Amino acid sequence: MTSDAKILSFEEVSKHNRKTDCWLIISGKVYDVTSFLDDHPGGDEVLVLATEKDATEDFEDVGHSKNAIEMMKDFYVGELDDNTMPQKKTYKPPSTTSSASNQAPGSSSTNILTFVLPILILVLAYALYHFAKKEEAI
Ligand code: HEM
Repeated sequence: MTSDAKILSFEEVSKHNRKTDCWLIISGKVYDVTSFLDDHPGGDEVLVLATEKDATEDFEDVGHSKNAIEMMKDFYVGELDDNTMPQKKTYKPPSTTSSASNQAPGSSSTNILTFVLPILILVLAYALYHFAKKEEAI
């Protein structure tokens, strides 16, 4: 036997976004908390604000008690169809290229300088030495 759980799309759940009709998505499950709004110790406003999105993080951030988690089953409506969930925007840090480019320009030019400078000094010293020797000979 397959389970009788209702499969609901994100779009459908998102329609219930008011004080008179308030559904939440928590851990892939859908809850109709309309009748609970006035009794919610955290207030009704936070629950309405948690509609039209995955409220799992909001719910967990509060650190709800076992009692609160136990209460949830009274409001259970069905399962959320995961495929209908809008794609989360994944943040791609630009660091992979920027950190390299932050270093590259300055360091490469100083690298060349530290390599060329001693050679220049050596050449100059050698030229001076020969010049001094020639002066001595005259
Ligand atoms: C079916 C869903 C929910 C149920 C059954 C529920 C139930 C409860 C209960 C029983 C409490 C009292 C404290 C405790 O026992 O943990 C509480 C507090 C609270 N809840 Fe919820 N809650 C739900 C969803 C949410 C969501 C989605 C949010 C956040 C957006 C939220 C925010 C809060 C806040 C801020 C408090 C007050 C915490 C405090 O001041 O101690 N709740 N909730």
